[in-house]
This record gives sequence, structure tokens and C-alpha cells, in this order.
Amino acid sequence: MRLSASTLAALVPFYLELVSAQGPSGTGKTTRYWDCCKPSCGWPKKSNGQSLVKTCSKSDQPLNDGGNTKSGCDNGGNAFMCSTQSPWAVNETTSYGWAAVAITGSNEAAWCCACYELTFTSGPVQGKKLIVQATNTGGDLGNNHFDLAIPGGGVGLFNACTNQYGAPSNGWGERYGGIKSRSDCDSFPAALKAGCYWRFDWFMGADNPGVTFKQVACPAAITAKSGCTRNNDVINETPTGPSTVPTYTPSPKV
Ligand SMILES: *[C@@H]1O[C@H](CO)[C@@H](O)[C@H](O)[C@H]1NC(C)=O
Repeated sequence: MRLSASTLAALVPFYLELVSAQGPSGTGKTTRYWDCCKPSCGWPKKSNGQSLVKTCSKSDQPLNDGGNTKSGCDNGGNAFMCSTQSPWAVNETTSYGWAAVAITGSNEAAWCCACYELTFTSGPVQGKKLIVQATNTGGDLGNNHFDLAIPGGGVGLFNACTNQYGAPSNGWGERYGGIKSRSDCDSFPAALKAGCYWRFDWFMGADNPGVTFKQVACPAAITAKSGCTRNNDVINETPTGPSTVPTYTPSPKV
């Protein structure tokens, strides 16, 4: 049969929907950061859904502000990253967490609150998986870049940690890369300690390992903490799995 122009036009959105439902995949890089700033997906209308990434007050309490409070990285701003958006280990091979993301050929509206399964391809964590939800982006990010949110990972370009927690003026440790040893986490604010230790335990102190990535439907345990879900998540799935998963504690190194 011949398709009329109007039939074709009617099919285009459906085709685009199928393509976008697949989501991007490929090879990417990681870095790490924790700048205490309000993540950009915490502003209204960043994602395609109704919900926003939860942000917190200076005392780490969830804000109920419709996403309109200025970031703690701006003068006088009072919205900060919530400590609950710290990575945690689900078991020996899988962790959950959050990241600032830049995906080649895509845009913030497409990745805000989307989840990506990262499989590490280098370093001590090679073969392990980290599922991250995109909560942020960054002007200093490159192609297929996942800047993992890890307390003590370095503040990077912006720093609200001095304002929020009284961290040193360049944040804890180096501005890029942060602290260098597990014991540096001992003096961290209580709410950030577990995420800080995660880097040296489950993540084995890996230093910006490479990844392969693919978009996946968000685990409910991630969206329960971030508060953000997309409309029509990958393959029209709603968040998968239980909304809480226990934290796995790696056995201590001998
Ligand atoms: C670890 O947890 C993930 C996510 O729940 C699950 O898919 C995977 O099968 C688990 N692996 C092991 C070894 O238990």
C-alpha cells in the first residue's frame, strides 16, 4: 500500500517514541564529585515528568519548595544536594547511585532522572555494575561522561560544601578528585560518611574507571530516594524492583 503524507506524519512521533524508548548506550568515562550544590534536575521542568530531584536545606532536610529555591552555590542560595543521594552497595557486584551526566547527541531534558547501568571496564572494579540516575549536568563534562556523586570526591567547578558543612575552602581534599584515603572520611559529617567510605570499600578506590553504559528503567529503590521519575521510562517501564534494598557491607580488607 502507499502511505499518504498524513499517515507518515502520524507515524513519526510513534517512531521517535520507539527510538527514545530504547535509550542511548555506548562507551563512556567517569569522574567523581560532591559539590553540595543543588543538582540541576532539581529545578522545575528539567525532566519530562512532573517530579523533580529532591533537594535539601542547609541542615540536609528535604525542601518542599516546588524546586524554586536558589542553589547553595549561588550567593544567598539555600538549596543543597541531599546526603541521601550518596551511592550504596546492593551486593558485591552491584551498587546504586547518582551522577551528573552528559550524553553525546542528547540533552538534559532527555537524561534528567533517567537511569544508566554502568559496567566498569578498567581498574579494580572492572566488571562491577553501578546503576546511576542522572540528577545533574555540568559545563565541564565531555562526551558520554558520568560524573559520579560521591561524598569527598572533590567539589569541582562549584562549591557549596564550605557553606553547608564548613568544609575547607576548596572542599575536602583536592578540588578535583577530593580526598585520597579512607581514613579521611572519619571526620566527615555523619550523613556523608557512608557514601565516602563506599568509594574505598565497594568501589575499591577506583580512579575514574571507564564504562560501557546503557539506559535502563530506574530501580524503585533509587527513585524512592531521589523523588524523581520520568514519564515513559525506558520501554515504558515504571521503576523496577522494591523501593528499598538493604545495604551490602563488603567484608573488611585483611
Ligand atoms: C545484585 O543485585 C542486583 C540488583 O538487585 C541483581 O540484579 C543481581 O543479580 C545481584 N547479584 C548478586 C550476585 O546477588
